[in-house]
Amino acid sequence: MPIDVVRPLRWEDDALVLLDQTLLPNEERWIRLTDPASVIEAIQSLRVRGAPAIGCAGAYALVLAAGTADDVRLAAPAIAAARPTAVNLAWAVRRALAALDDADPRGSLLAEAHRIRDEDEASCRAIGRHGAALLPSRSRVLTHCNAGSLATAGYGTALGVIYAAVEEGKQVAVFADETRPLLQGARLTAWELQRAGIDVTVQADSAAGLLLGSGQVDAVVVGSDRIAANGDVANKIGTYPLAVLARRHGVPFYVAAPRSTIDPDCPSGEQIPIEQRAASEVIEGFGVNTAPAGTSVHAPAFDVTPAELVDAIVTEVGLVRPVGGEEIARILKIR
Ligand code: MRU
Repeated sequence: MPIDVVRPLRWEDDALVLLDQTLLPNEERWIRLTDPASVIEAIQSLRVRGAPAIGCAGAYALVLAAGTADDVRLAAPAIAAARPTAVNLAWAVRRALAALDDADPRGSLLAEAHRIRDEDEASCRAIGRHGAALLPSRSRVLTHCNAGSLATAGYGTALGVIYAAVEEGKQVAVFADETRPLLQGARLTAWELQRAGIDVTVQADSAAGLLLGSGQVDAVVVGSDRIAANGDVANKIGTYPLAVLARRHGVPFYVAAPRSTIDPDCPSGEQIPIEQRAASEVIEGFGVNTAPAGTSVHAPAFDVTPAELVDAIVTEVGLVRPVGGEEIARILKIR
């Protein structure tokens, strides 16, 4: 049976309408944005988040900037730089700008933003089909953060693999790392999977070693914010230790991502910019002080998993396996 997935953003009455993900799972509030500055704010505060979804939001932000074509060109750099790690954002802004028609700035950008959105969901569904083939008919999958429908135009990358497997009749039980500090796993992945009727168990991030070591996981599947040309993968902070643990315990570690997440201009993970977040997200999470005032805080939003720890990257046109420069170059050439 097809799964009824949530789509976190839509274009309606000349506005970008977003599901405010900072409020989940307690409240489902849709917000209406009518200017590019509000979209930048929504991206930076994670009302909309996940690499492909912020790409779509960035493309719609350009539409909102479109009085004249010059207005658009002026607004584009700030939109593209709203968050630095997910390459999909800069990619989508670049792609929309390439479609900008000076004679009809708004119309040309809106058509391209819709295309980016539709292609993203189609890519996720294709990723799902390729990835589902990697899962046994009864499987227990561990995931980190939220690389689901909420993080894309719809369907998701890592969770897309799970949805496709379930749609094919496989039995899948999911373990979701809660994903400190902002709890995208507990708040969003659990919400999304529960809504889809999929068995989900939330655990503290630090429980992953015990779970993997006791043979309770058949595969780890995560998303990505940027994949370097050599196959190194940036994803939510805490992904790298998971990959180390998975290798230690012989559990396959898969990354699911569209090719728009691959950055051919980034030779390796060392060049991927890592976003630093506010200290308050770590020590005042959700309004409660959890460390003494004045404590120094290390708050990277992402880490980099070296290619050698990734068993396969699942893209919309098939698998990158073994993960490395040659295979990445091959997958990028497929039409
Ligand atoms: O900070 P976030 O919530 O935007 O981080 C999201 C992730 O790390 C996702 O795994 C990644 O963007 C892939 S989403 C399909």
